[in-house]
Amino acid sequence: MKNALITGITGQDGSFLAELLLSKGYNVYGLYRRKSKQDYGNINHLVNKVTMIEGDLTDQPSLINALKISQPDEVYNLAAQSFVGTSFTQPVYTTEIDALGVLHLLEAIRNTKPDAKFYQASTSELFGGLNDGLCNENTPFYPRSPYGIAKQFGHWITINYRESYNMFACAGILFNHESERRGKEFVTRKITSTLAAIKNGDVDCLELGNISAKRDWGHAEDYVKAMWMMLQQDKAEEFVIASGETHSVREFTQKAFEYAGYDLHFEGEGINEIGIDAKSGKVIVRINSEFYRPAEVDILIGDASKAKERLLWSHDVSFDELVRRMVSHDLASYKQLIT
Ligand code: NAP
Ligand code: GDD
Repeated sequence: MKNALITGITGQDGSFLAELLLSKGYNVYGLYRRKSKQDYGNINHLVNKVTMIEGDLTDQPSLINALKISQPDEVYNLAAQSFVGTSFTQPVYTTEIDALGVLHLLEAIRNTKPDAKFYQASTSELFGGLNDGLCNENTPFYPRSPYGIAKQFGHWITINYRESYNMFACAGILFNHESERRGKEFVTRKITSTLAAIKNGDVDCLELGNISAKRDWGHAEDYVKAMWMMLQQDKAEEFVIASGETHSVREFTQKAFEYAGYDLHFEGEGINEIGIDAKSGKVIVRINSEFYRPAEVDILIGDASKAKERLLWSHDVSFDELVRRMVSHDLASYKQLIT
């Protein structure tokens, strides 16, 4: 039986990965941060099946302790300050976790359990501003946020530890993936959770930023499978994981409202654009400049051919199905959502 240590186990991806590894018979250990009120987030349903170890990516002794307890065959580093917007308001904090945190963990593994296989959660935000076509493993990086720049350090230090110390360390360059467990500040979940509040008459309007931004969106459950597959290879390598389609925030919003029975049409431009429900004539989407970013990534679309050929990775959940699942979940659980 293999041991796996997951950092960021309480997050969206950590919870799906924990479920996947448990289903494969792993002993799963999770690093979690102490909170004033104990709450295991997305893994409340799993706490009796995994071993939780208190720690923080910025505190190396706690990482060494976690490695000594878990004796992992595989380490998945999913912990991060993962919200791009917050990386502009808290750039130093973000860098300490998303850049230096990776180094703390790699160095702890090198000294404690150097034969453990290591997965680093890299991101399509590395491609950032230069690319408007399909991005693959050879596309140059141009990050556009403190988050993207910190993640670029995490990416290269992972490769550097592989090349310097012969460790099995690799990074998955994952495009946006969402789910019913997504944090509510990310745009997809913000749309579906606010939609549920509008439908229930508690909120009048959804306020968004740049709705022309385009993203390559998939479902997180499909994407965590790729993380595991990367660590089952004989050789550590980088892989792009993406759906290969791109859609605007406007399109996501329109489809989400359509599933909930609205007929949403957009008119106007830029900050004056509004979304009107043709059935009721009400304005239900407005633009608020507060949600614009100082520097934007206008479009992302990924080419996962290498992962499809070499890992035999595929994704099952289409864009339409992703939107439908998130909307039905948030409508069905609205009462729990607000408590
Ligand atoms: P998430 O839901 O925001 O989860 C982040 C996790 O990191 C949480 O468990 C959080 O713990 C933990 N964490 C934050 N700071 C920490 C610290 N200092 N020490 C230890 N743990 C810390 O993110 P996600 O969507 O699951 O993403 C997982 C990883 O993939 C992240 O590294 C993210 O940057 C990367 N990524 C995500 C996507 C995507 O579209 N979802 C795409 C590419 C890459 P708390 O519960 O205590 O806050
Ligand atoms: N969050 C948010 N809120 N985004 C908005 C809003 C809004 O009200 N209005 C428009 N957007 C636009 C953002 O400007 C961005 O272009 C796009 O919607 C997606 O924003 P997020 O959902 O916050 O995700 P992200 O693409 O910035 O980052 C996510 O994906 C990365 C992979 O590409 C995160 O999961 C990162 O951790 C991940 O690395």
